Amino acid sequence: MSEDVVIHKGLENVYVKETRISYIDGVNGKVYYRGYDLEELVERSSYEEVSYLLIFGKLPTKRELYNWIADISSNYELEEGIIKILREVPKRNSPLDILKYSLLTIGLWDEKINSLEREDLYEKIVKILGKTPSILASWYRLRRGYRLVEPDPNLGYAENFIYMVRGEPSTRDAEIFDDILILHAEHGLNASAFAGMVTISTLSDLYSAVTSSINTLKGPLHGGAAGAALKMFREIGSPDRVEEYFEAKLARKERIMGFGHRVYKTYDPRAKILKNILLGLDLPPDVDRLFRIALKVEEVGMERLCKTKRICPNIDLFSGLVYLYLGLPDDFSPAIFALSRLSGWIAHILEYLEDPRLIRPRAKYVGELGLRYIPIEERG
Ligand SMILES: CC(C)(COP(=O)(O)OP(=O)(O)OC[C@H]1O[C@@H](n2cnc3c(N)ncnc32)[C@H](O)[C@@H]1OP(=O)(O)O)[C@@H](O)C(=O)NCCC(=O)NCCS
Repeated sequence: MSEDVVIHKGLENVYVKETRISYIDGVNGKVYYRGYDLEELVERSSYEEVSYLLIFGKLPTKRELYNWIADISSNYELEEGIIKILREVPKRNSPLDILKYSLLTIGLWDEKINSLEREDLYEKIVKILGKTPSILASWYRLRRGYRLVEPDPNLGYAENFIYMVRGEPSTRDAEIFDDILILHAEHGLNASAFAGMVTISTLSDLYSAVTSSINTLKGPLHGGAAGAALKMFREIGSPDRVEEYFEAKLARKERIMGFGHRVYKTYDPRAKILKNILLGLDLPPDVDRLFRIALKVEEVGMERLCKTKRICPNIDLFSGLVYLYLGLPDDFSPAIFALSRLSGWIAHILEYLEDPRLIRPRAKYVGELGLRYIPIEERG
């Protein structure tokens, strides 16, 4: 009974596999996707190229990229059945919940839903990547009572999404959205990537594994933090109230959203990129007002949390503001995060399938043993 075991709460600093997908340098504030500096990828690459890099482990040749884009974009169109479901379900549902149910539903149209063969997996991957932006854009429009916009397979991934949301393309905003997608595409074996890996370790199917990841992303400590940060900026109301807000929050031992990370002990480089994007934009007044509050939160947080406790700004301090600038409501932020992260999750799932082993940790039993069963009539 008295097992001598070490318990790793939150699996902190526990290594469960080797990976070649990404590396987070939490000390120097750097991220590498397959060895390439994320900042350079945001600057020079496209989401399609980055998703290829993450999933297949190398930058594509021109032909490979052409085929990859063609295979994804030929899947933009949604099955009539999925559109029907989207039309029918209550419009109060969050985009993230819509995304996960729709993804599972896409699987129902897949004749080889359970196959983990390489060629079949490829078909599923392009289907998942191709259809998810269409699901989210359709949900955006249906909730507003707008007519649906057909996808345009001639447009790039980000461009098509913006087009389907707004009904008209915008090259500039598509570029910003492309940056957002690249920035969120992968981030190591965090809770959501791990959840997908646990599911695939049972040799379940790709749709189920990806949906496990989405379910895990949902919480405010993971994918919900961007929306929570926006809520915080609104609560604060103006830059001159930031210090007072910090005092009150920290006195109550509550967390400041958009700060802290399990791996980074310095400024998250992704947050820096987003901040610079916002600084370069002509923001509408409502977004600008919140951005000024965010900058003050950053300034106060650098002194109160980062310099002293190494709890530093993370990507979610600014990502919600970029979504807002793009016209996407608060509750879209975890769904956009999921949309981007699909490539990273899929990369982890495929990597795990190369050398799978059922994930089965243990919990140390500290309950009682040998209790006498009392019939219900005698329990009072
Ligand atoms: C991301 C997060 C969950 C990582 O936390 P973690 O590694 O589990 O860190 P812990 O919960 O062990 O926190 C360690 C200490 O730092 C404090 N802390 C961590 N994040 C904090 C934050 N954002 N604001 C204030 N204090 C924070 C904790 O209260 C704890 O203090 P204590 O030791 O006095 O109890 C956490 O930083 C957090 O909740 N951040 C806010 C949500 C967020 O922005 N998430 C997006 C991540 S990309």
